[in-house]
Amino acid sequence: MAILPIRKLPDPVLRQRAKRVTSFDAVLRRLVDDMIDTMHYAHGVGIAGNQVGALLRVCIIEIPEEQGRVRVLINPEVLSRSGERELEEGCLSYPGYRGDTIRSERVVVRAMDLSGKTFTIKAQDDLLAHALEHETDHLNGRIFLDHLTSKDAIWTVDEPEPAHAQAPGQ
Ligand code: NI
Repeated sequence: MAILPIRKLPDPVLRQRAKRVTSFDAVLRRLVDDMIDTMHYAHGVGIAGNQVGALLRVCIIEIPEEQGRVRVLINPEVLSRSGERELEEGCLSYPGYRGDTIRSERVVVRAMDLSGKTFTIKAQDDLLAHALEHETDHLNGRIFLDHLTSKDAIWTVDEPEPAHAQAPGQ
């Protein structure tokens, strides 16, 4: 297991679309283990493949309220989203900034686990819903700056402090 360097803007890998995982093998498990270590080290709520320079559709989510439950999502797809809400958002790949964003109220995601088995997650009005949209965005080359309520709805904060206190780094 290893802590990987987190790619930061304007690294172009953050704007690329990650590829589907087709091999559910030891290499994938190693990548997932390293991403979990890296997320913990960075006090993140989630991390996506692009952020560690791996253009594979892999993301990890660990919500503080679900302490110890690490969600591993391989090839996640947003099946549906509905409603709108305004959130405060940050990203491990854009440290030192927070922004007000518009996200969905309800999100349904289908993904695979490390063995390739499919599962579905439904989330509503919570940090999990937020993280699901944030992390699946990363895999499509999108970041929270694409969802700001206005171009001025971004500000600086003192970093790097535990990002999960207010607006989680993801
Ligand atoms: Ni992020």
